[in-house]
Amino acid sequence: MPKLYITTSTGEKQTVEAKIGCSMMEALNSVSLVEGTCGGAASCGTCHVYFKDSAAAGEQTEDEGYMLEGLADFVAVKESSRLSCQIILSDVHDGAEIEIAPEA
Ligand code: FES
Repeated sequence: MPKLYITTSTGEKQTVEAKIGCSMMEALNSVSLVEGTCGGAASCGTCHVYFKDSAAAGEQTEDEGYMLEGLADFVAVKESSRLSCQIILSDVHDGAEIEIAPEA
């Protein structure tokens, strides 16, 4: 079970244990840390997170890149930005340090 170390947009710390094979958005939504309004279609931006380590963030999908471009008018989009709905959790995410992005 990957363990995610979360910092909320207000600076609170939380640890989330997630199931392998589910999306990071589902794991964060299950403890009310993100909304995931579009259900994982990369079209709402309410699941935006920053990885502490850019190298751990992985590659953005094409649709995700377009959505993040649109979000950049409202919130900081960083090199380590990801839409958590586009990340399927596996062992490589164990120990990942994630910050929830502010709402757009
Ligand atoms: S849940 Fe909507 S963009 Fe991720």
